[in-house]
Amino acid sequence: MGIFNAVFLCLFVLTSGFLSLSSAINVSHDGRAVLINGQRRILISGAIHYPRSTAEMWPDLFRKAKEGGIDTIETYVFWNIHEPRRREYDFSGNRDIIRFLKTIQDAGLYAILRIGPYVCAEWNYGGFPVWLHNMPGIELRTDNEVFKNEMQNFTTLIVNMIKQEKLFASQGGPIILAQIENEYGNVIGSYGAKGRNYLQWCAKMATSLNIDIPWIMCQEKDAPQPMINTCNGYFCDGFSPNNPNSPKIWTENWIGWYKSWGERDPHRRAEDVAFAVARFYQKGGTLQNYYMYHGGTNFGRTTGGPYIATSYDYDGFLDEYGNINQPKWGHLKRLHSIIKSMETVLTYGDVTPIDFGNGVEATIYATNETSACFLSNRNEMSDETIYFQKNNYFLPRWSVSILPDCKQVAYNTAIVNTQTSIIEKMPNKAEEEPEQLNWAWRPEYIKDTLSGKGSFKADHLLEQKLASSDASDYLWYMTSVRISKHDPFYSKHMTLRIKTEGHGLYIYFNGELVGSQYATTGKYSFELDVPVTVKSGKNYITLLSVTVGLANYGAYFDIIPVGITGPVQLIGNGSVVRDLSYNQWTYEVGLNGEDKKIYDNKYAQQLKWYSDEIIIKRPMTWYKTTFKAPLGLEPVVVDLQGLGKGEAWVNGHSIGRYWPTVIAPSDGCEECDYPHFSKTRCATNCGEPTQRWYHVPRSFLHTDNNTLILFEEAGGNPTLVNFQTVTAGTICANVNEGTTLELSCQGGHFISDIQFASFGDPVGTCGFFEKGTCEADHAFLVVQKACVGRKSCSIDVSEATLGLSNCDNNINKRLAVQAVC
Ligand code: GAL
Repeated sequence: MGIFNAVFLCLFVLTSGFLSLSSAINVSHDGRAVLINGQRRILISGAIHYPRSTAEMWPDLFRKAKEGGIDTIETYVFWNIHEPRRREYDFSGNRDIIRFLKTIQDAGLYAILRIGPYVCAEWNYGGFPVWLHNMPGIELRTDNEVFKNEMQNFTTLIVNMIKQEKLFASQGGPIILAQIENEYGNVIGSYGAKGRNYLQWCAKMATSLNIDIPWIMCQEKDAPQPMINTCNGYFCDGFSPNNPNSPKIWTENWIGWYKSWGERDPHRRAEDVAFAVARFYQKGGTLQNYYMYHGGTNFGRTTGGPYIATSYDYDGFLDEYGNINQPKWGHLKRLHSIIKSMETVLTYGDVTPIDFGNGVEATIYATNETSACFLSNRNEMSDETIYFQKNNYFLPRWSVSILPDCKQVAYNTAIVNTQTSIIEKMPNKAEEEPEQLNWAWRPEYIKDTLSGKGSFKADHLLEQKLASSDASDYLWYMTSVRISKHDPFYSKHMTLRIKTEGHGLYIYFNGELVGSQYATTGKYSFELDVPVTVKSGKNYITLLSVTVGLANYGAYFDIIPVGITGPVQLIGNGSVVRDLSYNQWTYEVGLNGEDKKIYDNKYAQQLKWYSDEIIIKRPMTWYKTTFKAPLGLEPVVVDLQGLGKGEAWVNGHSIGRYWPTVIAPSDGCEECDYPHFSKTRCATNCGEPTQRWYHVPRSFLHTDNNTLILFEEAGGNPTLVNFQTVTAGTICANVNEGTTLELSCQGGHFISDIQFASFGDPVGTCGFFEKGTCEADHAFLVVQKACVGRKSCSIDVSEATLGLSNCDNNINKRLAVQAVC
């Protein structure tokens, strides 16, 4: 080797050593911000939970998030999907958290990992595996050795898996922050001294894992150092962390809300989200995370609650299926890019707040080189005009104006210049798909349970989690009672009274279904009286208890009982003649069909199905059909209208519980004003089934034949079931003169038609635009020429582009457009 080569090799070794060292990212923080490689940063994060979509969807979701101005993806870690049985682990399919994190990294984004492992999240049992509950001596979320040992075991397992893949920033990976526990401060009071010890233990345990990035604890004002306590809520501008060295971080900016069975679809308007975000950064916040950027779907039996719907759309920036939700996405994208453009001054500048009184406030951020200003008006009802740095500024009510140079208003949170999109459902365009699907059915085998046969016994009523470990929604309770004609109380007609902790109940007496009931949202325990016809001799009582997601929130949520805890009584002539609560009870967990896996066609096709005549309204029935996947790439949904309640599987994948017979209240969907979100204002879907359409991810589908299998417990009619695609069909924009109108289609579609375009004083909203009193003659033609045949277009909203109008000078002109994708 010549000298030259030796020197070169030496240099190479040195530089590559340097390169691999420098690929480690140093994450630290001070009281102002999170620092990445020593630089204070403004970070904008969005929550996407990996099991609420599919691995095939992740790259597209991240791409859209990045394009929307997001630089970090946040997720919880869901313990119960990874450790379904103690020390048996599952990281397959959409449980593959490592693949999820690597996909984030490939997209050029950071990650925040909220390990919990208690997560809340409207997730079954808050993420805890139910076997935990059944461990002797355990108490969850408190200073209890059995629990702490399990929590530490799982947390360590996750951390080690991630370390092995070098996914922490300190190893060159994307993860910049990690969370332990979740909102413990909301419940700590109920756990007393043991709760306080547990909090300290959580912090110590987390720190001992040596991940070399900061740890956070949300909603925990007593978070011990070095944990950063962070804020969750609709607004976090007023939040201050508990230590001067902790930056102001907002872990959950609730940009909508989740949906429960029996409720409407909640919506939070873009103007209100933008106001909350702008106020947060105005008041010194430097990192916020949207909860949820993409909510997604609660597949299988993953919903918590109880009574959380299968859709977890959340009114996120990306809808349940991954479509861009406009105008929210676009309005906030603009805000993100403006906030990011001010990163240095916001994180290093001096801060001068000026109180104008009456809810109006200015904040000036200034370095030697530059300055940036926020002007905010917190009045919900009154617009204000303020005189600030030698200019008058008009501030619409409940809004923040951002002036990146302290002169020009670049953005106002209440002025939406972004297109709206109307998401439309289109019929299945698959070739050769018949008008109506062909159905086969078979009964759920319940003969054994109706005659009292089960797999274990107890001499009392068992709580459902204890008896079933939540292996199924269904638990059979069976007993019998001997009545003799000669008993003094004998009467043929008696009443069976059952008290259950919920959530649903089917009652069979001597093999006949004699009654059923579901709890109403919010009140899950109930008592049910059913008339029964008693035989002289042995009478069989078979009760089927059904859960609809286990509780996930609140102090001691884990010990909230479910199932039939009694009493169960037989009543004759108004008085209790037999209390059956301490009878010998026989139990069977789950359905026969679940046991035989008949939701999967591989097993289903080995069984006998009836197809001559389709039976409807029959409880405890399995249905099966085949269908062709809709053409194209758009997301697919199945319309389950006509069915009662149950679970649906496509090619063996559960698409979740369905329950289209629960209807949302008919009121609360009126046009609404934007300030201050409320669950019942700005809602949609009033008077309609809470959920009629169910997401079928494209990756669940084959190009040829697909199987849909339903378990219908209540009785329904599958003949109306059909597959559809969901996409943004109509798009609209309505923007002021002097700005730019931008339109774009999703899913690779082209603008095919302009249905409306008027530059003047048009009235109405998307779908209902009308010409006003004046307009420019050529606007329609200009828009048509600029947009039709394109995936996106942008037009300067000015008379120069759109032609002279006949509007009076005092009219603020706007261009309104409605187009078809
Ligand atoms: C928070 C919780 C989240 C989620 C949210 C409501 O309290 O931390 O996990 O449950 O509420 O969607």
